[in-house]
Amino acid sequence: MSDVAIQVRDVTKKYDNRVILDAIGLDVQEAETLVILGGSGSGKSTLLRLMIGNIIPDAGTILSLGKDLCAMTPRQLADYRRSIGVLFQSGALFNSMTVFDNVALPIREHTDVPEETISIMVKIKLELVGLRQHADKMPSELSGGMKKRAGLARALALDPKVLFYDEPSAGLDPVTSAEIDQLIIDLNEKLGVTTVVVTHEMDSAFRIADRMVLLDRGKFIVSGSPDEMRNSKDPLVRQFVHGLTEGPLTDRRRAGGYESDLLAEDI
Ligand SMILES: Nc1ncnc2c1ncn2[C@@H]1O[C@H](COP(=O)(O)OP(=O)(O)O)[C@@H](O)[C@H]1O
Ligand SMILES: [Mg+2]
Repeated sequence: MSDVAIQVRDVTKKYDNRVILDAIGLDVQEAETLVILGGSGSGKSTLLRLMIGNIIPDAGTILSLGKDLCAMTPRQLADYRRSIGVLFQSGALFNSMTVFDNVALPIREHTDVPEETISIMVKIKLELVGLRQHADKMPSELSGGMKKRAGLARALALDPKVLFYDEPSAGLDPVTSAEIDQLIIDLNEKLGVTTVVVTHEMDSAFRIADRMVLLDRGKFIVSGSPDEMRNSKDPLVRQFVHGLTEGPLTDRRRAGGYESDLLAEDI
């Protein structure tokens, strides 16, 4: 039995008195790739932001890498952030810096490593993501897939123990998306890094997941291996996983008011 990297315990998060996550619990095992699935607005990014210590829960606790995120001083939280890597939906590169400098940035900011060593560290990260030949390019010269790779190299800069991805295939064509999925798998295997991926893309989820959880209306409704998800008899899981046009999700939408449905949508 492997060790637990992250424990989410009875976590509730509200925005404007609206419950987004409702007393949820989740264990992320060390070195696994866990995929958090859910429709738009189901609270996936909120959960991810809780696990990276970006926001705090209204109730419950989050233990990550053995430490209670909610009990941390700002300094401890900054240390924790340096021990994890995050690839946000947008990639978030600095447009005025080369790919090399984007990747070097966290090392320059957070360590006293000399420039020659930084150069080696950055080249290793760029090689890992297949961008070694593109170190001197500006972000504007990169394709969407290359931008994600560069963002990933930067997330890897300080050798994180956990890598978080928020919708890694967002805005990519299917082939590029499959390539990024392969990279996620390779990094998990090569580096042994615990991997948490938030997505609503089923193809991508089935390619990369060791285990999946499905978030719906602030609760996890199922957790299992890709095969267990694929063969689930739960009508909601079936509709979500197989993209069916009839089922509890569409029934609910039909029954609910148009206005409340609009308000629940993510932007
Ligand atoms: N900072 C915020 N302030 C108010 N509401 C928010 C905020 N962030 C997210 N929400 C709301 O919380 C719900 C879940 O959002 P999110 O976690 O981004 O969903 P997902 O990533 O699954 O699409 C949405 O209804 C969204 O509008
Ligand atoms: Mg999101």
